[in-house]
Amino acid sequence: MSDRTLVLLKPDAVERGLVGAILSRFEAKGLKIVALDLRQLDADTLSRHYEEHVGKGFYDDLVAFMSRGPVVALVLEGPEDTWEVVRTMMGATNPRSAAPGTIRGDLGILFTENLVHGSDSLASAEREINIFFPKL
Ligand code: RTP
Ligand code: MG
Repeated sequence: MSDRTLVLLKPDAVERGLVGAILSRFEAKGLKIVALDLRQLDADTLSRHYEEHVGKGFYDDLVAFMSRGPVVALVLEGPEDTWEVVRTMMGATNPRSAAPGTIRGDLGILFTENLVHGSDSLASAEREINIFFPKL
């Protein structure tokens, strides 16, 4: 059975012209793009997507960052544990300490501006795909 996860290329990735470079990594790994859309996120969508962070000290900064320009939302499909494969490829949350070879480790330097989001469990993947691509 195929296995899917949600990925967002954050506004910094779009601004910096890194969409193609990041998508290439996922494709080269053997993951398949099954949905893809450039879109501007609003506060309501972000509060659903980041519901576990609503009310935290960094939440307002996170929303300001995530809504300052369009993101590329996509769904990736792989043979199994796709969410975990993508998280491994992304690297640690803080790009400054993310390992070389990871997307954040190779392409980022600022904390909040960490280029990419990936669902952090199978349950999160199902929940987040439903937010961004409800017809999928
Ligand atoms: P994401 O959800 O975006 O894939 O990132 P993540 O799982 O690696 O990190 P998470 O803990 O879910 O945090 C979501 C995003 O919020 C920003 N953040 N800032 N200042 C802070 O303490 C702080 N903590 C998190 C980051 O942009 C992170 O990606
Ligand atoms: Mg997260």
